[in-house]
Amino acid sequence: MRENVMKNNKNILILDDEKNVLSALERLLHGSFEPDFCNNPLDALEMVRNGNYKVVISDISMPLMDGIKFIEEVTKIDSDVVTVILTGHSTVENAIDAINKGSIFRFLSKPINKENIIKAIEDSLEQHSNIIAKKRLFNLEKEKADMESMIRALSKVIEIRDPYTAGHQKDVAALSVTIAQNLGWDEDKIRGLNLAAIVHDIGKIYVPAEFLSKPGKLTSTEFSIIKQHPVVGHEILDTVNFNWPISTIVYQHHEKLDGSGYPNQLKGDEILDEAQIIAVCDTYDAMISHRPYRAALEKDKVVAYLKSTRGTQYKAEYVDELLKVIT
Ligand SMILES: [Fe+2]
Repeated sequence: MRENVMKNNKNILILDDEKNVLSALERLLHGSFEPDFCNNPLDALEMVRNGNYKVVISDISMPLMDGIKFIEEVTKIDSDVVTVILTGHSTVENAIDAINKGSIFRFLSKPINKENIIKAIEDSLEQHSNIIAKKRLFNLEKEKADMESMIRALSKVIEIRDPYTAGHQKDVAALSVTIAQNLGWDEDKIRGLNLAAIVHDIGKIYVPAEFLSKPGKLTSTEFSIIKQHPVVGHEILDTVNFNWPISTIVYQHHEKLDGSGYPNQLKGDEILDEAQIIAVCDTYDAMISHRPYRAALEKDKVVAYLKSTRGTQYKAEYVDELLKVIT
C-alpha cells in the first residue's frame, strides 16, 4: 500500500504565500513527491478547479484569504480532496474551528520537518484512496439496490396478471435462498439467486392468460407456448446489465440434469447452480400448490417424487437440502 502511495506523486498542491517556504518544501520533498506549488489562494483555487488533486496543503495565514477559508472553498470544488494545514501561528481556536468544519485531515506546524511532511502526504494519499474506495462501494450498493427494486417491480407485473403465480415466485425464492444458505453459498451469489427466483416466471407474460388458468389438460400447442416462457424471460431480462447472471438463470430454470428439460436440453454442469436450485424448488412448490387443472398433491407423494428424481433430473445435493427443509 505504502509503495503505491509513494509512486503517485502528481496529485498534490501546496499553497503558501511565502516563496521561501515553498522552495524549502520543494527541497524537502525532492525524490519523494513532485507537488504543484502556488503562492496565491485565488490562483490555487483556479488550479483545483482545473486539476485533479488528491491532496491540498495550505498555509493558514495569508493575505487575500486565510487557509481555513481556502480549504472550505477547495472542498466545495472537490469534496474528495484531502486537506492539510501548515501553520506557524496555530492557535487552539484555529485548530478547533477547522476540525469542527470537518474539512482538515492533518495540521503541521512550521518549521516543517522532512519526516513529518512526507508522513502527512503519505497518510493523506492513503486517506484519499479510502474515500474513493468507500464511494465506489456505496455507488455499487446503490446500483444493486436499484436493480433489486426493478426486479421486484417486474415480479409484481406477472403476479398481478396470473393469480396462480402470485406468491409462487416469492415462495420459490425463499426456499432457494434457504438451501443456498444451508450450503454456505457466498452472500452475493445468494442475492443474485434470490432476484432470479422472484422473477423466474416473468416470461409467462407472453402466455395467453386463459392457458395459465385453464382447468383442463393443455393441448400440445398450448403447452409448447407455455414452454417458451424461459426464452421470453431471458429476452426481457437480457436487456438489463445486471451484476448477476439473472437472465441466464431464468433461461435455464426448466433445464434438468439429465438433459430432459427445456428449452435447450442442457445437461449437468451446463446448467448454472442457481438455475438448478430454482428448478427443484419450483417443482416442489408447483406440486404442493393448487393448480387450475389439479388439486395440490400430498406431501408424501411429493417427497417420493423428489427422491425418485434425485441425482437424475435434479442435483442430489439440492434435493437432499430441500428434503431437510420440508420434512
Ligand atoms: Fe417456470
